[in-house]
Amino acid sequence: MNRCTRKPILMIPGPTEVPYEVLASVSMPVYPHYGKEWGEIYEETTKLAAEVFNTSGEVIIFPGPGSAALEMGIANLIAPGEKIIVISNGFFGERIEEMALHLGCRVISLKAEYGKVVEPRYVEDVLKTHKDVKGLAVVHNETSTGVSNPIMVYGRIAKENNLFYIVDAISSYGAVELRVDDWNIDYCVGYAGKALSSVPGIAPVAISYEVFRFVEDRVWKPSSWFLDLSVWKTYMDKWRPIGHPYPSTVPTHSIVGLREALKIALNEGLENRYERHRRIAAAFREAIRAMDLEIVAPEEYASPTVTAVRSPEGLCNKIVRGLLEKFNIMISGGLGQLEGKSFRIGHMGLTATPPYILYTISALTRILISLGVKVDEYKPLEKLYNYIQK
Ligand SMILES: Cc1ncc(COP(=O)(O)O)c(C=O)c1O
Repeated sequence: MNRCTRKPILMIPGPTEVPYEVLASVSMPVYPHYGKEWGEIYEETTKLAAEVFNTSGEVIIFPGPGSAALEMGIANLIAPGEKIIVISNGFFGERIEEMALHLGCRVISLKAEYGKVVEPRYVEDVLKTHKDVKGLAVVHNETSTGVSNPIMVYGRIAKENNLFYIVDAISSYGAVELRVDDWNIDYCVGYAGKALSSVPGIAPVAISYEVFRFVEDRVWKPSSWFLDLSVWKTYMDKWRPIGHPYPSTVPTHSIVGLREALKIALNEGLENRYERHRRIAAAFREAIRAMDLEIVAPEEYASPTVTAVRSPEGLCNKIVRGLLEKFNIMISGGLGQLEGKSFRIGHMGLTATPPYILYTISALTRILISLGVKVDEYKPLEKLYNYIQK
């Protein structure tokens, strides 16, 4: 088997398939992160990333996983012993809670069941009894359940209560409406290798000017040197003009790939892109329902980039394995409370297009039939096709 046939089609919720323009852009000798030419590439990338965030604030390109970029936000804004509200309804929300606990924060945990949403009224009620809360953190698109959280409404509450608002937009960035400035987000983490369809490994982060002012006046130090934004600011001021915008070596290839992916996204137009993801996701859910399978998210909050499906009893691993072995399609199993009970399919960036979802639905139908699940062979594809044609 050669390399090409072995490489699976990535229908996981990231990393996802990467368009050839992005792949071509990273096929180049190593750029050093020094000098005017590199500096211009970095600045252009941050400007394009800011457009996708809909912000006029600062953007950094964090060299590492989304989780570390999120930790940076909490570590800088909430001192050990201070209170932060973490809204969670899935595996990645719970992870933010764990991060805050590791950093010594007092966590007020507002949870909803997997597949449900924390009512904004509940957040307001909690804030009436806890007057000394400093921050609010939430995941935009909960990748473990395929639930899109109402971050605009939470943002209004954060603003009214003078809280720093931290948002994990790792699996929504570049595909789902996200208005950092209008929605009062102070610290927002996106990602290159998910809905934006670039190579993984770096995270664009939008940071408000209030955050930088706060960090400048802050008397305490975060316990991590690398994650300290005041260290970053020193390097930004001093070395950014020569292309070295933060304390450590810059992954130049990943940034060049990100720049290309951002250009592709902005050429398509953000509104068009949001609409494409909404439509493809809705078509995908229609097809899943035509298999008589249950979707974890309620329709009202269903994610445009990932669908989590409740698996027929005991078949989760067989479905995931069957798709890979028989059809070369990689999907993901469930996470957290849904481990072994659900499977998750990403339809983001390049894979939020008819060829990818038609093939996936067709293959999934076949696998389910081969496992003895009663599924009409043609109805799911027909539903999908009709929806796409509309
Ligand atoms: C919503 C969300 N948050 C956080 C993460 C973690 O990102 P990373 O693996 O880059 O740390 C993921 C990864 O899938 C995610 O989907």
